[in-house]
Amino acid sequence: DASFENLARQFQHLPLIDRLPNCFPDVNPVDIYRAHITSILSDITGADKSVIYPVLQWTATLDKGDLMLAIPALRIKGKPDDLGKQWLEKWPGSPLVETPVHNGAFLSFFFKAEPMAKTVIPMALQHRTDFGSNPANGLRDQNDPSKGRQKIVVEFSSPNIAKPFHAGHLRSTIIGGFLANLYRSAGWDVVTVNYLGDWGKQYGVLALGFEKYGNEEELVKDPINHLFHVYVKISKEVAEEKEQAEKLKAEGKEEEAQKILDEGVDEKARSYFKKMTEGDEQAIALWKRFRDYSIERYKQTYARLNIHFDEYSGESKVSEDEMQQAAAKLKEMGLAHEDRGALLMDFTKSVPGKEGKSLGKAILRKKDGTALYLTRDISELINRYERYKFDKMIYVIASEQDLHVKQFFKIVRLMGRDDIADKCQHVNFGLVLGMSTRKGTVKFLNDILRDVGEHMHEVMKKNEDKYSQVEDPEQIADRLGISSVMVQDMNGKRINNYTFDLSRMTSFEGDTGPYLQYAHARLCSINRKAVLSDEDIAGADLTLLTEPMAINLLRVIAQWPDVVQNVLKTLEPTTILTYLFKLTHTLSTSYSHLRIVGSEPEVMKARLALYNSARVVLFNGMRLLGLTPVERM
Ligand code: ARG
Repeated sequence: DASFENLARQFQHLPLIDRLPNCFPDVNPVDIYRAHITSILSDITGADKSVIYPVLQWTATLDKGDLMLAIPALRIKGKPDDLGKQWLEKWPGSPLVETPVHNGAFLSFFFKAEPMAKTVIPMALQHRTDFGSNPANGLRDQNDPSKGRQKIVVEFSSPNIAKPFHAGHLRSTIIGGFLANLYRSAGWDVVTVNYLGDWGKQYGVLALGFEKYGNEEELVKDPINHLFHVYVKISKEVAEEKEQAEKLKAEGKEEEAQKILDEGVDEKARSYFKKMTEGDEQAIALWKRFRDYSIERYKQTYARLNIHFDEYSGESKVSEDEMQQAAAKLKEMGLAHEDRGALLMDFTKSVPGKEGKSLGKAILRKKDGTALYLTRDISELINRYERYKFDKMIYVIASEQDLHVKQFFKIVRLMGRDDIADKCQHVNFGLVLGMSTRKGTVKFLNDILRDVGEHMHEVMKKNEDKYSQVEDPEQIADRLGISSVMVQDMNGKRINNYTFDLSRMTSFEGDTGPYLQYAHARLCSINRKAVLSDEDIAGADLTLLTEPMAINLLRVIAQWPDVVQNVLKTLEPTTILTYLFKLTHTLSTSYSHLRIVGSEPEVMKARLALYNSARVVLFNGMRLLGLTPVERM
């Protein structure tokens, strides 16, 4: 049993492992070492434990040790190099860690292999799918679970009905799904919200288009594509109308031009949408069907990405009344002013200095009285807070909308709701370049996934031997395709742009989704072929893991819960991916050194325990990212 209590008992002769804030020895093996090293360092240096503990950092590469200390971080007088020397002389020796390695301003700590194996492997194998998750993180009070968990709302994906689900929505979906998983694993109460673009004059245009070009059967069969095609056709009419009117105007035929505009689709759409805002039953019923069918179809796609939304919200859900009230309040406070019939927010006047300048101006209400995207976001946020009383709210929106988000966060503050704005965070991301599908440039998520899946299927067919052994190649190809897209998306920092590259992302070489899947399937196959029972593995003699390869693999596995803990600060999926690639590279170099087949039975058990721990970590990491690990391929 790897529990904290047992360890404490096992190493009774150690300075007692204290319970420090953010120390989770029951679920994070590295924290056991952190607490232990903290204890020793505190005795040697006289520094307070609360100062030492948080600055014992993890290392990027194993040659830097398992934990590292930057000596100046302890804020003790003296030259770091001298201090390091003095402390080393006083190092008492420890059953858990080697004598630290001193290098200038740094001390590196290397964990002793045997106790590490006895801690990490049983923990990974017993906690299984929970290894790496830390439910205490989300508690309101780490020392008192009865005070309950914190609540987070994550808003992501948020496509627009009847418009393409473009790369921005794809990134938001992937990153948002990951964040929801991350917070869930950290013990938060997570609510996922999809804020659909489902309101505005364009739904008047769409309804008119449907009258003209719509087809019931098609709508039911493939709502997303059908509505899009209807929308494209009718939009063309609108554009032609405008062009014609411009031409007439240029010829001086003002009256004729006006007549075209007054009787045209655009004007009809405006009044149709007006009917919708006034609650006209028929108009609403048609729009609701568009919305419902689209959501139904989205849900199927989201399910393939292991994503679920607790709430389908949308711009349509924001009440006109509330928006008018919010606008009126801003006007009353002297923050917004009327300008030629529109209500305008001039940040350059209401917010001093640079910030005001960068926020610029924004329209809250158009001259015809309709509210806008910005105003809706303000009301929706205030409503959401009333509804969920969240402790934190994350918006996963493209960096193209940075200004929009800054503006509406600021307006909420100006309205006196710092309490809400303080809890909000914008998680942004860069562009996807060069994305197109075989059918052309329209990029619906389903088309992308289909194309990538088919491509993966072709790649698999090239290896005839293997292909013939796969039970359901189409399903596997689909999973591999989805993994390709997701891993490519999460491989860099969120803010970076990347180029959609079908052949690179579907390759089995390099840091790709298929490579991760392959690594997982290989571990599954090793486990299958060894035919050992769980009891056999649990009873393995872990002191037999002595090879440097085995120890390195173990050290990487030990880092997993700490990696997850760190991602909660950065909210960067690439942190997880970089780690998983480190793990899979370490694995691939160890197979030839740490064979299972042909080894002594006891060695076999110990090695399988090690490989199975790696499999647990790889599985959990892939799940956290939103992937579906495959067992054979
Ligand atoms: N539907 C919007 C778009 O496609 C994204 C919505 C983002 N969320 C928000 N609260 N503004 O651009």
